[in-house]
Amino acid sequence: MSQDSRKSLFITGCSEGGIGHTCALMARDAGFRVLATARRREEVAKLAKEGFEAQLLDLDESASIDAAVAWAKARTGGKLYALFNNAAYGQPGAVEDLSREVLRAQFETNLFGTHELTVKLLPLLLAHGDARLVQNSSLLGFVALRYRGAYNASKFALEGLTDTLRLELEGTGVKVSIIEPGPIRSRFRRNALEKFLANIDRRHSRLAKAYEAKLEALRKDDDAPFTLGPEAVGKALLHALKSPRPKVRYRVTVPTHLFYWLGRCLPSRWMDGVLRRVE
Ligand SMILES: NC(=O)c1ccc[n+]([C@@H]2O[C@H](COP(=O)([O-])OP(=O)(O)OC[C@H]3O[C@@H](n4cnc5c(N)ncnc54)[C@H](OP(=O)(O)O)[C@@H]3O)[C@@H](O)[C@H]2O)c1
Repeated sequence: MSQDSRKSLFITGCSEGGIGHTCALMARDAGFRVLATARRREEVAKLAKEGFEAQLLDLDESASIDAAVAWAKARTGGKLYALFNNAAYGQPGAVEDLSREVLRAQFETNLFGTHELTVKLLPLLLAHGDARLVQNSSLLGFVALRYRGAYNASKFALEGLTDTLRLELEGTGVKVSIIEPGPIRSRFRRNALEKFLANIDRRHSRLAKAYEAKLEALRKDDDAPFTLGPEAVGKALLHALKSPRPKVRYRVTVPTHLFYWLGRCLPSRWMDGVLRRVE
């Protein structure tokens, strides 16, 4: 199986309807050998049916990470061209309403699991000699918004860890990129709604009224302004994979570019005024 001459790409979070799945399809069409992973068995079965080499992977479980790393090693003969860390979820809720357990769970998936997988696959990337590590961060990896504190914190942390790793990997042949999407059509908001209902005691919160409005917006599942399809992230991923000089950061969607420049130009208090208006 390691005789396959295509460049191999390992992707997390490839369940149907999400960014990972679209990226898997686009990368395959572009000639990459995609090792697609998903957290749920039925999603792994769907991926296999679509012809992907597919594997179960739950970032919250070290045993699952170990099994997926062993699988990738066996499939690729120990040399992996690229890892796209895509899987994550958003835990809505005001900072004051986050329990320690809920915040920890957000970090278990978005940061600790992603980190564990990365360091365990790193020897395979290093063995390749000209490899790519691509992180799916977010606009919320550098801009804070109300009621997104847990997700903000996990993505800010991912950005910090990745910036450090990029410095440490200089000269190894592993090139590191971060994609920062703004609003993208996927199952993200529906999954966030579930986490909100399950983990936030909204009725007893000081912010009960604000939560009702937020809940309504999440339930409507309407596109936020400037929402793009998941192909927009796929395009950035393909550039990071194919370019001999991939960018350090790929900002995807108008809001990402806008908030990036506003953050650089406005004093912090003015910026807060802008951000408080975002629902
Ligand atoms: N959509 C946006 O507007 C947007 C904007 C900026 C950044 N992003 C980032 O884009 C990435 C993909 O999100 P998406 O928009 O495609 O959302 P999505 O449709 O909810 O997909 C998220 C994927 O992550 C998987 N996942 C969640 N917890 C996991 C765990 N413990 N172990 C392994 N996989 C897990 C999900 O699996 P299940 O299906 O089993 O839950 C799903 O496959 C995330 O990193 C997200 O932060 C999204």
